[in-house]
Amino acid sequence: MRNAKALAFSLVALAFLFAGCVSGPQQQATGNCGDKSKKTGPVKIGFLMDTLKEERWQRDKEAVEQHSKEVGANLDVQVANGSDDVQIKQADNMLTQGVDVLIVAPHNGVVAAQIVESAHKQCVPVVSYDRLIMRSEPDLYVSHQVERIGEMQGQYALDHAPKGNYILIGGSKTDNNALILRKGQMNVLQPAVDRGDIKVVSDQYAKEWLASEALRITEDAMTKTNNNIQAVVASNDGTAGGAIQALGPLASKVIVTGQDAALDAVQRIVEGRQSMTIYKPIKPLANAAVDAAMKLARGQKVETADKINNEKIDVPAILLQPMIVDKNNVMDTVIKDGYHKMEDVYKNVPKDQWPKQQ
Ligand code: GAL
Repeated sequence: MRNAKALAFSLVALAFLFAGCVSGPQQQATGNCGDKSKKTGPVKIGFLMDTLKEERWQRDKEAVEQHSKEVGANLDVQVANGSDDVQIKQADNMLTQGVDVLIVAPHNGVVAAQIVESAHKQCVPVVSYDRLIMRSEPDLYVSHQVERIGEMQGQYALDHAPKGNYILIGGSKTDNNALILRKGQMNVLQPAVDRGDIKVVSDQYAKEWLASEALRITEDAMTKTNNNIQAVVASNDGTAGGAIQALGPLASKVIVTGQDAALDAVQRIVEGRQSMTIYKPIKPLANAAVDAAMKLARGQKVETADKINNEKIDVPAILLQPMIVDKNNVMDTVIKDGYHKMEDVYKNVPKDQWPKQQ
């Protein structure tokens, strides 16, 4: 009896294990789509981008273009310039033209779910790029450790401004990254709020990640507190720039965080007007996305170490490591990596104050 029970249990467990092996989202696109692994000709990749507004997205475009060339893929890039309708039309066009795989940096993570559905109807796999596509079954998510980035921003602010008034400036609410960043920031800041060490005097999101929104949010908080601000936890460099403009001469006394290691932000860092940024090397991200897209298009499995829930499934994920950059390690990070040139970063600093190059 005990043996029979044990056998039944093992069979059930095996069945679950087997189901787990075959029903992952990576099989979704290709599951009922015949044998894709026989595809041998050149792969056609469609890259749907939201924006080229921030410097980083221009780098993403270039890096995806370059690596697609290296692996012999045909690439079509379309930029929606912040419009969901445009992005969906661009996706439909690409599908009509017969792309083998889509890489999508969604404008709105929830709205973009329909891109995944249309693509899967045509057996086209989808890689969610940098930003997570929600409530759907994308085959893969390739990004950085976004929650960790939020924690790094929060921790940096807290280490350098352990007490006082804080402004929190999130990014676009339609971008899941903006929400995860805030979660990461609060993982670190909430205990300090609860202890009464810091007070959040403004907690808002900047529409479309606009610097002008961050400027307005910062100005309002300055008026409200009579210029008594110790830290601005800005979620990216664009919004940091807006906050710094509002702070004016105060910027050198207030801790301001950022993200993206944009040239103007790194310049502000060496000039003492922005405290830090987060460096996310773009080439490894673009390469990982293109390599994965090639595999998915050919019906091969992509190995992933991570997963992230998108309110429908646990999406298999490749999440790269971010790095903190401040005035102490600019040379050893973005400059050493060739992400920026020293002469560009120190352009506005008198030459006798430039660090010695080893
Ligand atoms: C986010 C991205 C950031 C930043 C921002 C503005 O999704 O992770 O790096 O660029 O968009 O477009």
